Amino acid sequence: MALADFDIVLFGGGGDLAMRKLLPALFARDRDGHLPPGARIICAGRHHWSREEFLNVLETNARPHVAAAETQPQRWQAFCERVQYVALDATDPAAYEPLIQAMRPDSELVRVFYMATPPALFSRICHNLADVGLANERSRVVLEKPLGRDLASARQINAEVGKVFNESQIYRIDHYLGKETVQNLLALRFGNVLFEPLWRREFISDVQITIAEELGVGNRIEYYDTAGALRDMLQNHLLQLLCIVAMEPPLSVQADPVRDEKLKVLRSLKRFNQTTLAQNIVRGQYRAGHVGGIAVPGYRQEGAPPDSRTETFVAVKAEIDTWRWAGVPFYLRTGKRMADQLAEIVVRFKALPHSIFAQPSSTFQPNCLVISLQPEEGLQLNLMAKTPGDRMRLKPVELELDFREQFKMPRMEAYERLLLDVLRGQLTLFMRSDELEAAWEWVEPILNYWEQEQTEPLPYSAGTWGPAAASALIGRDGLQWREEALPEM
Ligand code: BG6
Repeated sequence: MALADFDIVLFGGGGDLAMRKLLPALFARDRDGHLPPGARIICAGRHHWSREEFLNVLETNARPHVAAAETQPQRWQAFCERVQYVALDATDPAAYEPLIQAMRPDSELVRVFYMATPPALFSRICHNLADVGLANERSRVVLEKPLGRDLASARQINAEVGKVFNESQIYRIDHYLGKETVQNLLALRFGNVLFEPLWRREFISDVQITIAEELGVGNRIEYYDTAGALRDMLQNHLLQLLCIVAMEPPLSVQADPVRDEKLKVLRSLKRFNQTTLAQNIVRGQYRAGHVGGIAVPGYRQEGAPPDSRTETFVAVKAEIDTWRWAGVPFYLRTGKRMADQLAEIVVRFKALPHSIFAQPSSTFQPNCLVISLQPEEGLQLNLMAKTPGDRMRLKPVELELDFREQFKMPRMEAYERLLLDVLRGQLTLFMRSDELEAAWEWVEPILNYWEQEQTEPLPYSAGTWGPAAASALIGRDGLQWREEALPEM
């Protein structure tokens, strides 16, 4: 579908996200001919850079994030021609004149305002855009996470941004929804007849969703220490993945049918009480250790205050109070400086009700579907099969689907896909205001509990799978995290 002509403004246009993700993503779509010839990319930031200085910043900070083979110099040059830089104090309405000048006055153009800024600025910028006449009914606004730090602040952002833009103009980004495999999960569930009848409490024992990172907090300590893993990853990415796994079939893949179903899941999450708050949540913080054989410092040596209680790991046992899912635990966990870099969803089926085979039942592994988001994109289905020979001896085997192998096509990064959707006006992969608030409503008691208890996060060594309490959390239910259940290599 050809894109309507547009001007996109990146507030925070000199910042880390713009350089690492947004500009490389826009470059990639430009390279593949998706951007209309006249489309403009206007980076707005506080630095007083000349155009030349900004192009140098782009060269140093954005270009390295464009895969080497793709940096054909003339394409990069052509992309840079589209990019402008405007020095702007976005909080001051009187400072918007250079931005107005940089944008085309054509009222038929789509105008996209991308807030790659701290959330405290979202409302001010939206009101300023309205006051200076830049926001109109063809405008779209993109809000980057963190979308608030609790329910009240999320509500306030929704309310204030909602005074300037209609819900249909607001794109709340969760970049996990832009990942190919997440969308493939929709295809798997609703494009095949095979799984849906089994996708319920009668057949599924438990679901594990893990996003583990080897990296530490790096240079984001200032933000991260005020956020922590619960706000940074669980409230958004992990809950969105849970929604896609657990939702009922939507009426279509249009925005509202999908978002209605996700909302129902969020609203059906079992609320915590004092007992489950104490038992079903594990909070950790990494200490010095080794990741990939390299010694790395602990969180508190990386610039965090020496007494910081910010969690860099969180594991939660969640439950969904619906007919489909009652009694099926969903274990969610995420952490920095973990043993491996991976994001995966593991759906484990129940054990055989009865075995007709002579071998001990302990040699039977329950069927298991592993949906890998990264580093590989694929599916693995674990089955039991007969080993060749004259005896009836069964053994676990794996059916594997590697999406890269299967579709030998160029991939789109999550931000490329999501930016294209913004430009096309497709909201399916963005969160609606009520979803955001429902996610905060569920998460907030955990934050309050930690605040009241004033306990320290449990230490774990960098390069491990988090505190031992995370294994105990799932072990109490007689289960193991997938990597713990895998045979030793
Ligand atoms: C971001 C978090 O939303 O997601 C980061 O703020 C995290 O802390 C990142 O590192 C992980 O994303 P991905 O796509 O690299 O798994």
